[in-house]
Amino acid sequence: MSDQSLLQRRQRALGSQSPLFYDEPLHPVRGEGVWLYDADGKRYLDVYNNVPCVGHCNPRVVEAMHRQAATLNIHTRYLDEGIVRYAERLTATMAEPLDTVMFTCTGSEANELALRLARFASGGQGIIVSSYNYHGNSASLAEVTTALPSPEPFAAHARAVPVPCLYHAPAGVNEAQLAAEYAAKVGEAIASMQAAGIRPAALLIDTLFANEGLPRVPHGFVDKAVALVRAAGGLFIADEVQSGFARTGDHLWGHQAHAAVPDIVTLGKPMGNGYPLAGVVTSRELVESFGRNAMYFNTFGGTPVAAAVGMAVLDEIEERGLQENSREVGGYLRNGLERLAERHSIIGDVRGKGLFFAVELVRDRASKAPAGVEARRLVNDMRHRGVLISKVGEGDNILKIRPPLVFTREHADLFIDTLDAALSAL
Ligand SMILES: Cc1ncc(COP(=O)(O)O)c(C=O)c1O
Repeated sequence: MSDQSLLQRRQRALGSQSPLFYDEPLHPVRGEGVWLYDADGKRYLDVYNNVPCVGHCNPRVVEAMHRQAATLNIHTRYLDEGIVRYAERLTATMAEPLDTVMFTCTGSEANELALRLARFASGGQGIIVSSYNYHGNSASLAEVTTALPSPEPFAAHARAVPVPCLYHAPAGVNEAQLAAEYAAKVGEAIASMQAAGIRPAALLIDTLFANEGLPRVPHGFVDKAVALVRAAGGLFIADEVQSGFARTGDHLWGHQAHAAVPDIVTLGKPMGNGYPLAGVVTSRELVESFGRNAMYFNTFGGTPVAAAVGMAVLDEIEERGLQENSREVGGYLRNGLERLAERHSIIGDVRGKGLFFAVELVRDRASKAPAGVEARRLVNDMRHRGVLISKVGEGDNILKIRPPLVFTREHADLFIDTLDAALSAL
């Protein structure tokens, strides 16, 4: 069947608005490591997907999944040692008081549960999010989402605060001033909630601000924002769906780049390397008191198969030194991107660390006007050249570079050469 007729069938069966990457959708039939292959055997270098963090079809993960599925897979309301071992191993990676986990199947479910926990603990309803955010597809998350369209109006109990970026800051403003100026906007959001009779429940942020395009956030901003929210009775929820599992190289968790330890951490995407596994990590005290008031269970969240898969992912990250790889290859990749920026004036800024980069494309470096049309053309051209990336940001002009953690220097070279050629062809 041709891709065109499959697309038509898909649109009839799933609806024409079911989203697909690329103007000409990709139809991979096999994956291995950092590679995807189409039916003609053409290979694509995956420089976008954080879900297969330890590589597409990772043999250890597949074997763990298969072995456990062939032995036992049941509702999560039975005793199972694998689940307990995985929970202990996962929570041991975080600082006190993050010692207890509640498993879910998706990042959306994890954030939804985090909001329930924060509202329960704080007695408030107010949610503060960043100004170009996406945290999931549930009703309460849709009404605080700003990065994607939705029929739900932005909630009266929510406030969206802008995220500072040193690249976009006016000349002459220093880092400390920028942090203070934008923290003050969080203070204003809290005051406006309180004036409307709304008690703040949570600050819900991705600590890398991936959807904003990995802004160069001034040191201290996040900690200041957290302190203000806590002083008003709210909790700090760190969404690690994109930033977690060694992505940044320096740490296992994105929030560890900041001094503030979150009250609640939400996990997803890379946690199961493609198997639907997600969760919430918080303090035992909060889980216990919530549990005395709410009977929360999740039929598929944290089954024996999910736990076996999650454990295999952690084993791979640890034994193959993938956090170190993320830092080392990430540094090499960054150099390559910076060299491209010297030769291609459309590159306004290169940001990020570990194996997560944002390359902001601008019409000209003085105005920094977003080159969204060019970014779209480039992403599609890269796909035809056999390299998969995407784009983010309010101006749709920031290239999103986030390969599986098993990315090597050779892969980085191929990526940089291809990006160089695509930039030259713009
Ligand atoms: C930061 C962040 N949080 C949460 C989610 C939602 O996760 P899921 O699609 O597994 O529900 C996403 C998905 O893109 C995300 O990027």
